[in-house]
Amino acid sequence: MAKKKLWGGRFSESTDAFVEAFTASVDFDQRLYHQDIAGSIAHASMLAHVGVISESDKEKIVTALLRIESEIDLGGFQWRIDQEDVHMNIESRLIELIGDVGKKLHTGRSRNDQVATDIRLFLRDGVDQLCVSLRSLQAVLLDVAEREVATIMPGFTHLQVAQPITFGHHMMAWFEMLDRDFDRLKDCRKRINIMPLGSAALAGTSYPIDREYTASLLGFERPTNNSLDGVSDRDFAIEFVSASALLMTHLSRFSEELILWSSAQFGFIELSDAFCTGSSIMPQKKNPDVPELVRGKSGRVNGHLVSLLTLMKSQPLAYNKDNQEDKEPIFDVLDTVLASVKAYTGMMAEVSVKRENMLAAAAGGFSTATDLADYLVRKGLAFRDAHEIVGKLVRYGIKTDKDLSEMNLDELSQYSDVIKEDVFDVLTLEGSVSSRNHVGGTAPDQVMAAIQKARQRIG
Ligand code: ARG
Repeated sequence: MAKKKLWGGRFSESTDAFVEAFTASVDFDQRLYHQDIAGSIAHASMLAHVGVISESDKEKIVTALLRIESEIDLGGFQWRIDQEDVHMNIESRLIELIGDVGKKLHTGRSRNDQVATDIRLFLRDGVDQLCVSLRSLQAVLLDVAEREVATIMPGFTHLQVAQPITFGHHMMAWFEMLDRDFDRLKDCRKRINIMPLGSAALAGTSYPIDREYTASLLGFERPTNNSLDGVSDRDFAIEFVSASALLMTHLSRFSEELILWSSAQFGFIELSDAFCTGSSIMPQKKNPDVPELVRGKSGRVNGHLVSLLTLMKSQPLAYNKDNQEDKEPIFDVLDTVLASVKAYTGMMAEVSVKRENMLAAAAGGFSTATDLADYLVRKGLAFRDAHEIVGKLVRYGIKTDKDLSEMNLDELSQYSDVIKEDVFDVLTLEGSVSSRNHVGGTAPDQVMAAIQKARQRIG
């Protein structure tokens, strides 16, 4: 039999069964039960602290709430759709357990400030977990970068060989992107960690509540400044999803590179078997499923960002039921991002680098052409003239199928007599890479310094 609704007093007819199911959120918001119970315990403690309920009533409420929490933990709790959401399921069980005393818990509170508080508590934990995972991934990238600090590979622009770089430098580019993602998450945590509880339905409450007290019990920085804003805005969640979408966008870029690099055509890396799958029809295949899936999942997180922005758009103050739709995107974003970062951490820890192939690719694409032009400038030519001369040499190289580093002095000096024996110092890949020796450059010494700084930064 359906239980009586906690809000049923003014209704004479019962809810249509379809509407009941349509409006219920318990199927998904039950995930907030720890946060909901923590919020209720803090609220009851505050009510006793200011004398709105007695100490003994508070004790009964807290004991029963802890009992409900363990019932849920152990899977013995019966979630009821006729009790709509996580909040009313827990409250009606509380009343079932301790009768009239349980009815006092909702004094000076509404589900509107309750749910806004629950999501903030949930996201605060989520951000902390994600930050820890991100740091682990960053640490793995630093290990790869250090191991490959002098490994030469072609650097690309427009996916055409541009200039030689080191693989360590390339890994550090990824590291930097993730470091900004980490900072963005830490920053949005500041705005998550503010407490709406006490806003009640929208206008606050006539009871003499002490919101600072509740906030400190729950580890919030402070109570929200405005009750209408507190119950209604979900900008903090949108910020979290936005930071996550950027993080996934970064991972999708890494994925694209890993997929290309592990192809036979590039042959720069090999992903370990544990992170790949085979094909049921083509026996030779080893597919980079993990990076492909992460690349795909970035679309899903971007989609949730658009959902939440659209959910919030044009909502009048204060709370509207629209906001019930915030939970599934928030949960899915956190799960997706945590899983993607975890997969990346394991995968990158085991990546193997095919140094000879990277080197051969760097040697094959006229990647030291800029170095030769710079050499000519050092010999007194204007850069545009130097550019022209090297262009001609590249054309000659294409015709004769020779890289600049494979030409002899006669060939190299055919368009400019300032080219002398010392040109060979700059035409080697090692020379090219180590000449970019300034902060942010690809010289192995600089990359090593960057790795050391980064290690200090991530602690
Ligand atoms: N399940 C609701 C939500 O997720 C809780 C708040 C409901 N408030 C209300 N007045 N109907 O937003």
